[in-house]
Amino acid sequence: MLPVILAGGSGTRFWPLSRRARPKQLIALWGDRPMIAETFDRVASLDSQGRALLVLGQHHVEPTSEALRSLGTEGLELVVEPRARNTAPAIALAAARAEAIAGDEPIAIFPSDHFIGGQQAFEACLKLAEERARQGAIVTLGVPPTRPETGYGYIESEGSIDTAPGQGPIALAVRRFVEKPDLATAREYVTSGRFVWNSGMFVLRPSTLWSELERQQPELLRAFEPVRRSGASDVAIIAEAFEKAASISIDYAVMEGAAHVEVIPALFRWSDVGHWAALDEVSATDTQNNVVRADAVLDEVRDSVVLSAGSERLIAMSGVEGLVVVDTPDALLVLPRERAQRVREIVDALKRNG
Ligand code: GDD
Ligand code: MG
Repeated sequence: MLPVILAGGSGTRFWPLSRRARPKQLIALWGDRPMIAETFDRVASLDSQGRALLVLGQHHVEPTSEALRSLGTEGLELVVEPRARNTAPAIALAAARAEAIAGDEPIAIFPSDHFIGGQQAFEACLKLAEERARQGAIVTLGVPPTRPETGYGYIESEGSIDTAPGQGPIALAVRRFVEKPDLATAREYVTSGRFVWNSGMFVLRPSTLWSELERQQPELLRAFEPVRRSGASDVAIIAEAFEKAASISIDYAVMEGAAHVEVIPALFRWSDVGHWAALDEVSATDTQNNVVRADAVLDEVRDSVVLSAGSERLIAMSGVEGLVVVDTPDALLVLPRERAQRVREIVDALKRNG
């Protein structure tokens, strides 16, 4: 089974640490290593021959190679997209390349910038996913929801998503896949107890992807046929396919309408660490529930995220709660944690003002 890492994110929600040239997967949000290094390390052993693909834009090739430098990357191949066209074209390109290298071996798709806790459980879930994908399923990894998040896909399974303690992973038939429902619908799904979040990780054979594209996205399939025929190694042919391909995510293009989807409820911890306030899901907190990654003096400070990078400055805070403070040499961010999603608006304003 060939792991495929998607590293096309532009990352605006972790400003000022992430920048255009340094998206989220290239920064270290917890621990010492950039997230892409954590991800590669986690999946590198899934293929018995140590092969892996990483799909990214040309402008991220150099910093990504740098971020992976200390790891054994002999079996890793960087697959360069001529332009960002969202995940469906990126995955079609990866599948075409995987097919040229490994025939119809299942491929396992991973975002490059998520947190996963529990390597053994993760590997057990993927082993089962590989078996099911060999039978022709698209196998998603689902996460039991804890809030009515509207930024995720929701997966309804035929059976109960609860796994008995000590039972090991189970694969369930999927009744439907709904990408990014509205808030009222998301609330319904969460209270029903039948839905899991789509983690964005899934396993399938290239041939399964092609037959789903043939049924659901014939134009996309046609655009990528020359890429497949040429072994996905000719830059001009790839450029032409991306020229023709619509920009669409795999969730809308394939998942929502796919014939045979299965879901494995994750037995590991997962977070997509979508914004600064989510850092407490993945990092240790102090007794006042603060995440502190800075030289800081905190006097009666609660529920805050305090972080500095590349800056020697001491941060002192007193009598505040629920703040995000991020200090870097050329920019300082301060906002209440409920507004963590609004960093995007700050970045937009900065872009507008040059
Ligand atoms: N190579 C490449 N090229 N990668 C891309 C591109 C692209 O054009 N666009 C997105 N990606 C990568 C991102 O870097 C990320 O790792 C992953 O694909 C998913 O893309 P997002 O843009 O983060 O998707 P999303 O967060 O809106 O939704 C997806 O993820 C959720 C879980 O985090 C969906 O799959 C949801 O259903 C899911 O719940
Ligand atoms: Mg995302």
